[in-house]
Amino acid sequence: MKATARANTNIALIKYWGKRDEELFLPTNSSLSLTLDGFYTTTTVEFSKELINDELIINGVRSSDKELLRVSRFLNIVRRIAEVDTYASVISENNVPIAAGFASSASAFAALAAASTKSLGLELSKDELSILARQGSGSACRSIYGGFVEWKMGKRDDGKDSKGKQLLSEDKWGLTVLSAVVSSERKKVSSSEGMKRTVETSPFYKGWLDTVHDDLLDIKAAIKKRDFIYLGEVMERNALKMHGTMLGARPPILYWESGTIEVISCVYKLRNSGIPAFFTIDAGANVKVLCLPEEEYKVREALMEQKGVERVITCHPGRGITYL
Ligand code: PMV
Repeated sequence: MKATARANTNIALIKYWGKRDEELFLPTNSSLSLTLDGFYTTTTVEFSKELINDELIINGVRSSDKELLRVSRFLNIVRRIAEVDTYASVISENNVPIAAGFASSASAFAALAAASTKSLGLELSKDELSILARQGSGSACRSIYGGFVEWKMGKRDDGKDSKGKQLLSEDKWGLTVLSAVVSSERKKVSSSEGMKRTVETSPFYKGWLDTVHDDLLDIKAAIKKRDFIYLGEVMERNALKMHGTMLGARPPILYWESGTIEVISCVYKLRNSGIPAFFTIDAGANVKVLCLPEEEYKVREALMEQKGVERVITCHPGRGITYL
């Protein structure tokens, strides 16, 4: 049987940065994200006795061995659950600039989890899908749901309690996320490698672990009260702190380009002029700027004027996985 699913990507407001179990993708801290409507992956999976290997095509191109290996490893988990041993063909269309600080792996593994299980006739709950998607890419467990989503780190060694939980659906708070693209190049250090090196070598990592839970509580309070200014402040400090931990790693990791700093300064200037706008940055050079929808046009214009900015993509809160 064949099945197609679509998943949106998400932007972390409180970051996931560090694993306590590399194999099961179990995090050292809980995180919180907003699922977006502009970047998504649509994936079709078909298991077939005719195939002698898994096959992976991304945006019309047969993928590299490294990418195929990661997908096959994930499909092995699905095969174990369904008790089948057939290979699969995976055809994926990515409307996300891959590996440029946009979590393409989040939408990719959320869509793959949904399409692959559906194609085998497995009826998984969203909780189960989230746990499965997490084992392809941690942030993917949040993309199963729309709107504001918390990834509860869980305590168990088997990861059964480490999954996404929707806090507020996408229609409950209309914010705008402007993604300022300052580099569409593939980043040199993957997020997995970046977090591993930070956990193992950065003296600042302890400070992260000591304070990230408070950031999470603060942002949840801001969401509950729909307090945009507070949400922005907490989000911004959490992102800068994550990048701070990487600067302390050996060798240090700096994802930023000159355009990154230009966008940060632009956001500070907007705030000084009375326009509430706040930024966050994942493991890459690009910057996502949050603002209120009524300010969207002005903020976008200001970002577009920055020298290092190639383009600005406007997103709003998006939904969780859908089957096509
Ligand atoms: O799940 P990964 O490997 O794409 O890691 C995501 C890491 C960050 O984007 C930096 C933070 C996050 O919570 O999404």
